[in-house]
Amino acid sequence: MKKGKFIVLEGLDGSGKGTQISRLDEYIKKSGGQAYITAEPTASSTGGMIRDALGGFVKRDAYELSALFLADRIFHNINPRNGIKKYLDSGIDVICDRYYYSSFAYQGIDADLEWVMKMNLECRDIIRPDLCIFLDVDTELCDKRIAENRFDREIYENIETQKKIRSRFFEVFDRLKDSENICVINASRSVEDVAKDVIGLYDRLMHQ
Ligand code: TYD
Repeated sequence: MKKGKFIVLEGLDGSGKGTQISRLDEYIKKSGGQAYITAEPTASSTGGMIRDALGGFVKRDAYELSALFLADRIFHNINPRNGIKKYLDSGIDVICDRYYYSSFAYQGIDADLEWVMKMNLECRDIIRPDLCIFLDVDTELCDKRIAENRFDREIYENIETQKKIRSRFFEVFDRLKDSENICVINASRSVEDVAKDVIGLYDRLMHQ
C-alpha cells in the first residue's frame, strides 16, 4: 500500500496555522480525500505537563522542557491508537500543527541547539516530514493577534522572544535545506491568498 504523506505547518504564535490547517482540511475533503489533523504538544499526559510549563504554572529548565517535547513527540509518532506512524502506514496523510522545528526554534534559544537537533533528528521513532510549510508573519502582527485573542500570554509570547524564535527558525531551515523539504510562505497577506499558496504546495507534493 502507498504510504500517506506527512505535512507540518509551522509558524510563530499568532501566525494563523490553525486557520490554514482548517482551510487545507476543507480543500482535501472537497476533493474527496482524507487527512488526519493533529498538533503538538499533544493531549497526552506529557502534553499536559508541557502546557503547565508554557502557562508558567510550573517552572521547567530548558533541557527538561526539550526532553518533555521529545517524549511527547515519540508518543505522538508511535502510539498504536492514533499515532502518526499508524496513519501513514495505512495510506492516510497526516497534517500536523508544529513539530520538531518548533523545538529547535523555541527550546534552541535557552538549551543547546545542537543537542536539541541531535535528539530529535537521530531518534529512530521520530518520522521526518515530507513537507514543512512555514507561515512567516511579521512579529508585530503576531503580537497584535495574540493581544486580541488571548486572555493570558504563555512564556514565549512576548515580542522580543518571538523575534529571536523567528531568526532561529530561519537559521535551522538553512541548516536543513539539503535534507528536508521546507517552504516559507509570506503569511502577512489575506487568509485567502495564504490558503491558495498552502493548497498549491499540498497539490504539488501529492502529484510528485
Ligand atoms: P499552543 O497554544 O498549543 O498553540 P499555537 O501553536 O497555536 O501557538 O502553543 C504551543 C506552544 O508550544 C507554542 O508557544 C510553541 C511551543 N512549542 C515549543 O516550544 N516546542 C515544541 O517543540 C512545540 C511543538 C511547541
